[in-house]
Formats: sequence, C-alpha cells, structure tokens
Amino acid sequence: MANLVDLSQPSLYISAAMIIFNPTFWNIAARTEYHHKTITKLAGGNSLYGCYALAVTIFVLGLIRDAFYERALRAQPTHPLLLSLGSQALAVLCVASGNVLVLSSMWALGITGTYLGDYFGILMDDMVTGFPFNVTDAPMYYGSTLSFLGTALWYGKPAGVLLTVLVLVAYRIALTFEDPFTAEIYAKREREQKGRGMQAHGKKVEPIGEKTVAQGKKMEPLGEKVGPKSD
Ligand SMILES: *[C@@H]1O[C@H](CO)[C@@H](O)[C@H](O)[C@H]1NC(C)=O
Repeated sequence: MANLVDLSQPSLYISAAMIIFNPTFWNIAARTEYHHKTITKLAGGNSLYGCYALAVTIFVLGLIRDAFYERALRAQPTHPLLLSLGSQALAVLCVASGNVLVLSSMWALGITGTYLGDYFGILMDDMVTGFPFNVTDAPMYYGSTLSFLGTALWYGKPAGVLLTVLVLVAYRIALTFEDPFTAEIYAKREREQKGRGMQAHGKKVEPIGEKTVAQGKKMEPLGEKVGPKSD
C-alpha cells in the first residue's frame, strides 16, 4: 500500500478535507439563503448580487481545492503503470471530456443557474434538457470528477485516483441533498402559478396573456377596446 499511496503525507488529508468541505459549504450556504435570505441580506437586499457573490466564493474555493489537490499529488508516489501511453491518453481524454461537460453545462445554465440561483428565488424559465443534460443529469459534478481523474492519471498518482473516488462520493451525497430540494422549489412555483391562475378566474379578471399581447402590440387604448366587446 505504501508504494501506492503515502498515508503519512499531511497534504493528502488537507486535500481530502477540501474535497469534502466545498460541496458541504455551498449546500449549507444555499439552504441558509433559502430559509433566511442571509446572503441576500449581506448583499444589501439584492438577491442577484448575493448569488454572484456566492458564485465567486464557490469558484475561488474550487481553485483552492484544485491547488491543494495538485500539491497533494506531488507529495505522492508515482506508479509506472499509470505513466504508460494508454493511461496518459486516457488522462487527456478525461480532462478534455470533463471540461466539455463543465463548460457546456455552465453555458446552458448561465451563472445563476450554475451557482444555486434557485435557492435565491432566481429560477430557470424552463428545464434545460439539451446537451450536456441529455448525456448525464449532473454534468457539472461528473465533469469535475473526470477532471480529477484525468489529473491523477496524468501525474501517474494512485493517490489521485483515491482522492477522485472521494470527490465522486462527496458529489453523490451532495446530489441526494440538492436534487429533491431544487425539485421542490420548482414544484412550489408550479403550485403557486396554478393557484394564481385559479384566483384570477374566480375574480373574472381579464386573461393576463391577452392584455400583455395588447400592450406589446401597442393597440388602441384599452377603454376603446372594451367598448365593442360589451355590445
Ligand atoms: C444531446 O443533444 C444535442 C443537442 O443539444 C444533440 O446534438 C446530441 O446528439 C444529443 N445527445 C444524445 C446522447 O442524445
């Protein structure tokens, strides 16, 4: 074991701690925001700025985690098998496909969609179903995991493969917290939209859609338009 992974290196444990800390931090931060609007309050009441601040924080924490990961790898033994041509080719493939998944997912979701905007009440209009979400349901997490694996293989470090398993476990646990919670946020919006629709009907209010169209087209003043209708 000692020639595969050097368990006496403190950097190994610092890296492991950062890998566990990051998703734990953003889940706690996002839920605190959802329940108490803590980050929005810190951002002077602006939820969009709050979400941007969280995005920057998560991004920087990711950079720090990656730096600790590389530092941990440098202190670990290298295995010749992982330096073979096949393994090195796989490393490039992992990093490349991982980055494609992460970047295309950010492109599809935008900043607020990527960085937990739902918890700030900044919801996506529609569920994103195109690439990369038709390949995997969590492209950000699996893409990131692939990048960790590719880096481990690139440097030929079995310890990196071990840390990658920890990354995968941490993300899988994060998903069991995040998926049902965000599903409920969107289900709540749906219920509220339905509720509002029924309320409007009960009060015999003009359909919202028609009014919007009329305003958008700059039609005749509403008063005039109502006239012929009452004939
Ligand atoms: C995913 O969607 C993209 C378009 O967004 C399409 O080109 C691609 O073939 C789809 N892939 C799969 C596996 O369905």
